[in-house]
Amino acid sequence: MREIKIKFAERSSDYAIAIGGGRISGVGVWAAATLGNIGKVVVISNTTVFKLYGDEVERSLNSSGFKTSRFLMQDGEEFKTLATATKALKAMSTVGLERTDAVVALGGGVVGDLAGFVSSIYLRGVRFLQIPTTLLAMVDSSVGGKTGVNAAFGKNTIGSFHQPAGVLVDTTVLSTLAEREMTAGLCEMVKHAVLSGPKLMNETRLWLADREDTLLRRLIAANILFKAKIVAGDEFESTSRTDARSRKILNFGHTLAHALEKATNYSYFRHGEAVGYGVLYAAELSKSLAFLDKNDVKLLYDVVHRGGPLPSLANIDFDSVFEAFRSDKKNVAGSLQMILLKGLGRPIIVSSDGISRRQHEAAFKRIDKF
Ligand code: NAD
Ligand code: GLY
Repeated sequence: MREIKIKFAERSSDYAIAIGGGRISGVGVWAAATLGNIGKVVVISNTTVFKLYGDEVERSLNSSGFKTSRFLMQDGEEFKTLATATKALKAMSTVGLERTDAVVALGGGVVGDLAGFVSSIYLRGVRFLQIPTTLLAMVDSSVGGKTGVNAAFGKNTIGSFHQPAGVLVDTTVLSTLAEREMTAGLCEMVKHAVLSGPKLMNETRLWLADREDTLLRRLIAANILFKAKIVAGDEFESTSRTDARSRKILNFGHTLAHALEKATNYSYFRHGEAVGYGVLYAAELSKSLAFLDKNDVKLLYDVVHRGGPLPSLANIDFDSVFEAFRSDKKNVAGSLQMILLKGLGRPIIVSSDGISRRQHEAAFKRIDKF
């Protein structure tokens, strides 16, 4: 078992991320130690994940003295909405969840984002624990405290910063995860490796070559450590920061990713898959602006390619993608801020004002050949 601590200078309390194999059966003991008191917990999950792991988690919580109840959302990004959040809040209220009680999020990024969001607004905030069950949620969404739901006017446009009280990563649950979901998580890992530098990139490529379990656990821990350090230094993603350690860099690849998801009505790509294309797109733009060497771009194609197949871009019209850039959350004072690259481990934040539509379209055409 490995533990990573995330420490905050600002508002939030420090917390730990416990990583290991087979930890989920001990969730009750961990929750009691993490929360420091035994009370009620509402387990928020979805129907798919709960069927696989819900009983084990509830049994363990009960045997440590917790009184559990559950709210199960339907499975899918399209249910990450205010309407589902309202139903979850009602379920929390119905069982009389109090401010000293807690929520347990059991699932992927969709469940974690929604559970974190309702925890941040219920009675002006209750504690919540994250038990991520997808690779993407383990390496990215369960750590850092970004919570939220989607709205008609954009993805994740309603949300809050609310850090979990603790995160429990049990890598054995990945055995039931579909291959496509593993690819999606790998794309977020490639994003971290690009931002972190050659060491994490080499470890990622090594794992992709033979997909060995012990190495995966180490790699997941390295990803969490990287993200935790960035988040600790800029918890609320300050709008004025543009340096290479700003939390904004974690949005690398997301300008195109969010536009692709929006242009396809959030129903064609897994979020991580769209990030895979976004990484390549940012690399192509960086090359066309003479920031990035062509060998680095080649390496990124290779590593994303090894992560698994991505859905085709053939039927996606560039006009709809370009239009979607306008509603991006990374817009500051009307300009889109893009995270580009000067090399591995050397992100830069630039305004898209100096990048022509022709350059954008050329980058899009090149990644289409992936
Ligand atoms: P997801 O939560 O939809 O999970 C993917 C699928 O895998 C679902 O069908 C789910 O039921 C299933 N599943 C989950 N765990 C399983 C398991 N162990 N075995 C079998 N099936 C399992 O998708 P995701 O990729 O985990 O998360 C994507 C979401 O995360 C998006 O909404 C995205 O916006 C969000 N996100 C948030 C942050 C953040 O910082 N908060 C960061 C990245 C992504
Ligand atoms: N996933 C980007 C962030 O947490 O800031």
